[in-house]
This record gives sequence, C-alpha cells and structure tokens, in this order.
Amino acid sequence: MTLQSVPDLQHRTVLLDEAVDALAITGARADGVYVDGTFGRGGHSRKILERLGARGRLIAFDKDPLAIATAQTIADTRFAIVHDSFATLDQALAARGVAQVDGVLMDLGISSPQVDDAARGFSFRFDGPLDMRMDTTRGVSAAEWLATADEQTIAKVIRDYGEERFALQIAKTIVARRAVEPISTTRQLAALVAQAVKTREKGKDPATRSFQAIRIFINQELEELEIGLEKAFRQMAQHGRLVVISFHSLEDRIVKQFMASKAHVPQPDRRLPIRAVDLPQPLATLHPRIKPSDAEVAANPRARSAVMRSLERISVEAAA
Ligand SMILES: C[S@@+](CC[C@H](N)C(=O)[O-])C[C@H]1O[C@@H](n2cnc3c(N)ncnc32)[C@H](O)[C@@H]1O
Repeated sequence: MTLQSVPDLQHRTVLLDEAVDALAITGARADGVYVDGTFGRGGHSRKILERLGARGRLIAFDKDPLAIATAQTIADTRFAIVHDSFATLDQALAARGVAQVDGVLMDLGISSPQVDDAARGFSFRFDGPLDMRMDTTRGVSAAEWLATADEQTIAKVIRDYGEERFALQIAKTIVARRAVEPISTTRQLAALVAQAVKTREKGKDPATRSFQAIRIFINQELEELEIGLEKAFRQMAQHGRLVVISFHSLEDRIVKQFMASKAHVPQPDRRLPIRAVDLPQPLATLHPRIKPSDAEVAANPRARSAVMRSLERISVEAAA
C-alpha cells in the first residue's frame, strides 16, 4: 500500500468537550485515574491529559495497532496505552497496580482512519481486501469467516447485527457465489448484497446493513461492550463517572439498559416489613443523554448518529 492510496487518515473526535466534561476531572479528581477505552487517534485522551493533575493517570486501550502507534508518540509519564480490548480492563489495571478508577470513557465503533483506509476492508465505498478486523494482529478476517460459515449463521449475523430483512437471501447469495470463487474483496461483497436486497432505502447503500453486521460480528463488538461496561463499573470509585458514546441502536440499547440497571434497583414488595434503610439502594445516578449539536453535525457528518450516556457511581459497597 502506498501512502497515496491512503486518504486523509484523521479522526474528528465526536462530542469532545461534552465527553471530557462528563468525566468531571476537577478539584481532587484531577489527580485520579481515568481510562479511555477507545484511544483511536487520541482526541479524547489528549483533552483528558490537559485536565489531569500532576499525580493523575490515564490508561488508554485500543485494539488497533495503528491507534497504538499513535498513542506511543505521546510522551507523558501520566499516560499508558494498552493494546487490547477494553473488555480486558480488569487484568490490565491490575497489572498496573490500579484497584479503582475515577472515570471511564468509551467512544465506540470504528474511527475514520479505519473506515477511510481501503486496505482495512471496512467500507463498501472503496475496493479492498475484506478484512474488517480492528486488531489486524489476531482473529479471523471477514473473508476467512465468509469462506467457511454456514448459511444459517451468516443469515443470523446479518439479521441480528444489521437488522436486515433480506438477511437470508444475502446469505444464500454469498454461499452460492463462494462455490464459484472466493469472496475476498469489499466490492465483491457489496455487489452480492446489492443483488440480494430487493428494495432500496433512501440515501442508504444496500450494503450498509450487512457491512455493519459483519464488522460487529468479526470484532465481537456487542459482547465486548457488555463485558467492558460491567468491568468498568466494578472498578469504579465512589463518584466515578462512566461515559459512553455509541453510534447505532444496538450499542445504545446495551448502554442504556446497563446504566438503567445500576440506577434503578428492583424494590421488594411494599407489604413486606423491611425498614427503609434496608431497601436496596441505587448504585448510580444517570445524567441526561447528550447528542451532538447541529453545528457539530454540520462540521462532521459522522457525528450525526452519536448518542452519549453517562452516569455517576454513588455507592460502592453494595456492588462489591
Ligand atoms: C470512534 S474511535 C475512537 C476515537 C477517539 N475517541 C478519538 O478521539 O480519537 C473507536 C476506536 O476504538 C477502538 N475500539 C473499538 N472497540 C474497542 C474495544 N472493545 N477495545 C478497545 N478498542 C476498541 C477502535 O479500534 C477505534 O480505534
């Protein structure tokens, strides 16, 4: 790959001030420990470092080796980068002697440098190898998976993660075609999907849903999100903040339900003789959901679908 084949590989950070403000890195909290679960190109991380005190720490994660390479250029003793999923947060923190964190940020999904690089295979807009792995050093590429998965599994992935009603037809088309030639490029896959999808959604390429679905599956995005949220919350100190930006309804539903489960605890039958002090207490308070302003969306159309949710942990003992 020559540099000329790589378009502008910058990432415009979404909800930069809103997300970092929500971590509340002020007063004594400026010397706390923060986690950026999705370093990307470090937009949020750099802003967090600006607000951190001299004794503060920021531990960032990313699965992508190119994100890691960028992170390694940050010369700041308060900063550390981990090349792994935020789903391994507990082990990574324990290895660094960190028992509790004051804030965790997750800016989910893929970055512009990933989607705009044809060689990564995330986009049907460019022709490239059908890879789609965030972490190119391990795991199975989309092409490898599509070469061997059975029709029902392919259909289920595309239906569940793409909410695509032509999932079965797409799976059948893929399985029929791979008997003739390997499906190894984004253009091949996009053409097969377009052939199988019989209706068109206004302003949407017919391959959008299938590419999203396969990407989510290949990177185990929803499973890792569920694990990461739980682990982040478990490590959180009192008044710790959890801030999550999601970009599609499947992610946002998981975040919303997770946060609600910490803020609204089931109450026992009112007729039972239980004293008020013995009633289960909420572990967190929710903050209002935030979406990018019109001005941000106008400047960065990729911010359009972003939704930010955050909570403050108010009780630590009850979840131990
Ligand atoms: C939207 S970008 C983050 C952009 C970043 N906030 C910035 O301002 O540059 C998402 C990044 O998270 C990474 N990522 C997604 N899921 C991850 C996970 N489970 N663990 C670690 N990194 C993940 C992707 O590789 C990508 O680099």
